Amino acid sequence: MTSDTSKTWRATVLTLFPEMFPGPLGISLAGRALASGVWALEARDIRASAADRHRSVDDTPAGGGPGMVLRADVLAAAIDAADAQDRPKLVMSPRGRPLTQARVAELAAGPGALIVCGRFEGIDQRVIDARALEEVSIGDYVLSGGEIAAMTLIDACVRLLPGVMGKLSSATDESFSDGLLEYPQYTRPQLFEDRQIPDILLSGDHAKVARWRLAEAEALTQSRRPDLWAARPKPPESGKKRKPPKIATDG
Ligand code: ADE
Repeated sequence: MTSDTSKTWRATVLTLFPEMFPGPLGISLAGRALASGVWALEARDIRASAADRHRSVDDTPAGGGPGMVLRADVLAAAIDAADAQDRPKLVMSPRGRPLTQARVAELAAGPGALIVCGRFEGIDQRVIDARALEEVSIGDYVLSGGEIAAMTLIDACVRLLPGVMGKLSSATDESFSDGLLEYPQYTRPQLFEDRQIPDILLSGDHAKVARWRLAEAEALTQSRRPDLWAARPKPPESGKKRKPPKIATDG
């Protein structure tokens, strides 16, 4: 048990579907860390901040068009009631800035986050501006709401919290800071459907294995992710060899 709650990383999620949480975050690595108090999750129902008799949270878009828009007054009241002054306030949205491992690491190093999950056609722009919400996208595709995107962000943060990944954590941290995709992994059996494990991995020569892994990671990154390849940190100059990537595969 982590008894010092001042160190607990706090995720507050504002959603119209609080029953979706913790969902997958209650299982495995994140679930164990949640149970032991490394992090805390509060899923708050936006509808609880609706002031009218019908508890309405949305309305038709000004200027016309399809769908419904989340009301600024209701969402602002939900944000203000959430006691998150000390934490970054995010809103999950396909038009947000793409989430990166660097931003995940920053968030994980802080006290936690308040995360707004959008639904409907959007959120009234005035509350995004008035509460300085940071719009975050998890990729160039459209989900039916922000909840699964919020879970993705939280999961990525939680695995970086001290003690969550044990020995694997430092290795994992290095993967994206190295800017390379993961090299291929193999395990027993040695022969699977006529396919052998590459000889070099069975050679016992750690330096050779490390060089092979680096070459594989570089080749993969170059062919699959030319954007990452172009932006990768440049290897140190003069004599000093670049460290081989240490990338954990934990799921
Ligand atoms: N809500 C809907 N689609 C999303 C996406 N791609 N990223 C973040 N939030 C979303």
